[in-house]
Amino acid sequence: MRIAHITAEAFPWAKVGGLADAVTGLARALAQAGHEVTLLLPGYRSVSLTPDSFDRWPEVLYDHLAFQPVRAFVWGLREAQPFHLWVIDIPEYFDRSGIYADPQRGEYWDDMARYVAFVRMALRALETRRWIPDVLHLHDWHAAPAVAWLRYDTGAFPTLETVSIVLTVHNLAYQGVFLRDLWPWLNLSEQFLHPEAFEFYGRVNLLKAALLAADAVTTVSPSYAEEIQRPEYGHGLDGLLRHLRSKLVGILNGIDTDVWDPARDPYLPAHYDVQDLAGKRVCKAYLLQTLGLTVPAEAPLCGMVSRLTYQKGIDLLLEAIPWIVDQGAGLVVQGTGEAAYEDGFRRAVRLFPGRVVYVDRYDEAMAHQIEAGCDIYLMPSRFEPCGLNQMYSLRYGTVPVVRAVGGLRDTVIDVREAPQIGTGFRFEPPTTEALVATLQDAFDFYKIPDLWHTLILRGMAQDFSWRRAARRYTDLYERIVRR
Ligand code: ADP
Ligand code: GLC
Repeated sequence: MRIAHITAEAFPWAKVGGLADAVTGLARALAQAGHEVTLLLPGYRSVSLTPDSFDRWPEVLYDHLAFQPVRAFVWGLREAQPFHLWVIDIPEYFDRSGIYADPQRGEYWDDMARYVAFVRMALRALETRRWIPDVLHLHDWHAAPAVAWLRYDTGAFPTLETVSIVLTVHNLAYQGVFLRDLWPWLNLSEQFLHPEAFEFYGRVNLLKAALLAADAVTTVSPSYAEEIQRPEYGHGLDGLLRHLRSKLVGILNGIDTDVWDPARDPYLPAHYDVQDLAGKRVCKAYLLQTLGLTVPAEAPLCGMVSRLTYQKGIDLLLEAIPWIVDQGAGLVVQGTGEAAYEDGFRRAVRLFPGRVVYVDRYDEAMAHQIEAGCDIYLMPSRFEPCGLNQMYSLRYGTVPVVRAVGGLRDTVIDVREAPQIGTGFRFEPPTTEALVATLQDAFDFYKIPDLWHTLILRGMAQDFSWRRAARRYTDLYERIVRR
């Protein structure tokens, strides 16, 4: 089959969070399974569109949005990937220092225009090259505008109208909601600004329109697919999702086991596998030393690499820090995000020097070193569509302590409930008390080397490869294409 993915992120060219890893992992696995796959990505500055790695198409694409001309160049990645990467280059929208936000000035104000233009020109690119897919796979709200012209007001892309559409919701918290003043950007008649299409409490909601129009909707874990049908996790769309549940399915993400492999990870000072864990101790010593942590090598070291947002339960962790330090454990946190959380970690470092370290930047190498060098990986998320870090940490022999929610529930088995098959620890209520009580149990397990060793080996033996997920997506594609 031919499958085109439209996405705002793809690893390694443009990454803010797990979306990037998930899209590239899926595209690669589908291509390896024999499908012809094209991935369409905006031409951010981070993509580095230079003639040594990309070929620029001779065709320049022109269109109009909101009565303004839009012009796009398209660049194809030359390097042999199992899939094609086409980059939609609209410099005024994407040649900027950040992906969604300027590092100094904060979020870009023109996201509606940016992503509507990207998707419009992505469809133009497919049509121009007559690369007509069987399935158009849209990821998150950024890709949602495709349904505007393929399902609501047709005619602009005659060759693409019969293509089946799959929408994957990686995170329902982000829906692409804009003031109705921006409606003209969609080039649609006002008749579609109603509650059965784009309208949502007086605003424009791009994701909602795509949920309604897609042939199938997926989300990134079975538990999250259930949760988003409830008010606590539905972000205002739970009623709609209950209504659409016959076309909604949860497919657990995989992880890229080549990029995340402790036996040959180029970022690590030493390597290890289930046969020989000695390298993991080297990784821990290296991490303690490079970060200036003074906790003894035998003390448990907890880690986290994350966007610092409400979703991730950062407040629960911040409140638990004095207790963690009091237990003699160390803590390393890497991530950027909301200023209050960043300040909270900076304060903790001042209060507990040598015990708590905060790395306030995006750093791929350090993320791998934290996964490998820690004993315990923390994910106290309030909600978590899938979560990749807990799977990385299992593979790196770093025992996850997670909240039992979304993909965390589907990937971590609590050893207290299932002593024979458990791989980590889970807690239910989103409270600091529940986190602390569960961490206490983890620390107690840690003190018994045999138990801990078994836990590590079991986690490392889990299979989270993309092959399984790609099979489930293929089944889904085949079902809707036949229809
Ligand atoms: P989300 O997509 O909600 O952010 P995931 O667990 O799915 O959560 O994926 C997060 C990804 O982003 C992981 O690969 C993680 O290592 C990475 N990441 C987040 N923050 C940073 C950072 N500051 N430096 C390096 N990698 C980061
Ligand atoms: C989103 C979710 C995260 C998920 C990722 C990839 O960013 O927050 O849970 O793992 O997408 O699907």
